[in-house]
Amino acid sequence: MIRILPTSQSNVSQVDFDNIPFGKIFSDHFFSCDFENGAWTNLEIKKLEPIPIHPGNLAWHYGQAIFEGMKAFKNKDGQAVLFRPELHSERLNASARRLCMPELPKEIFLEAIHTLVNLESAWIPPQKGAALYLRPLMIAMDEALGVRPSEKYRFMVMALPVGPYYPKPVKLITEQTYIRAADGGVGEAKAAGNYAGSLYPAKLAKEKGYDQLMWLDAKEFKYVQEVGTMNIFFVIDGKVVTPKTTGTILKGITRRSTLLLLQDLGYEVEERLIDINELVEEYKAGRFTEAFGTGTAAVSSKISLIHHDGFDMSFEQSDYPVTSLVKEQLDGMRFGDVEDKHGWILPVKQEVAI
Ligand code: COI
Repeated sequence: MIRILPTSQSNVSQVDFDNIPFGKIFSDHFFSCDFENGAWTNLEIKKLEPIPIHPGNLAWHYGQAIFEGMKAFKNKDGQAVLFRPELHSERLNASARRLCMPELPKEIFLEAIHTLVNLESAWIPPQKGAALYLRPLMIAMDEALGVRPSEKYRFMVMALPVGPYYPKPVKLITEQTYIRAADGGVGEAKAAGNYAGSLYPAKLAKEKGYDQLMWLDAKEFKYVQEVGTMNIFFVIDGKVVTPKTTGTILKGITRRSTLLLLQDLGYEVEERLIDINELVEEYKAGRFTEAFGTGTAAVSSKISLIHHDGFDMSFEQSDYPVTSLVKEQLDGMRFGDVEDKHGWILPVKQEVAI
């Protein structure tokens, strides 16, 4: 049973929904529960405020911290909806297994999401394309040093109204010194440390004028993996190709949905190893015409440039037909003016009890 402790005053009236930066505005409440003595307990939704954490918290020292990114939307009838929430629960648990953390039962995950979104429905931006971003997070809670799995954990969900993550097309540079993930590592998990590892090389890329990195494989620096903030797609000779997930790439839910929706629309799609030199050759031959990133935050984001080894693949002149189609379809499905063939859109339950 989730105990709800509502705040006496909401901050929602202070939000300018026409101008929302990504990740800076939090809703009034958050969900929290604890894993203690082998069971999940203390299920609560309460005022979002700082929580006391002991300096010896294991997550801070040895990195047992995983998260998800998902979104709630308002459809054209004003009803709150979610996009494929079960897949986020499954991916959280896959990350938990890899980081030696306890799985969270799907029922708790889903009821937490439904109850929180229901309570915070006034925080869902009404415009098509904007959303209430949901950030489920699980961290170790033991207060002890020593490299071992924690016995106590906390799972939380925060809600943030958001606009686009990348309001303008993104410039990328391939990374040829640092790596994101190697075979057998934690690249497939949505682990906080994967993002920490990207910060220094991304800072160097920004100093050179690029927005983000395009990661290559750890052995040969040859095969494209992903962009630190999103999965990546290329349009080559009219075919849509994306790196296949072999354990080093985040299994994006938007990635998976994009592949299926493009197939439904008659596009030939391919998941395979993509050699960066192939991209350069195809670009020179005029066949590599478009690139885009996908993710919960990014949705479908235009890539205006990929720099590799002194060579620029520029798409600034492109009108990004596939990128725009994916965004229109995803936004349209969530808004309710594009058919939801596969049942990806779930209404938020009004009555929730667990
Ligand atoms: C998401 O797309 O939800 C993510 O977690 C990526 C992050 C860069 C915001």
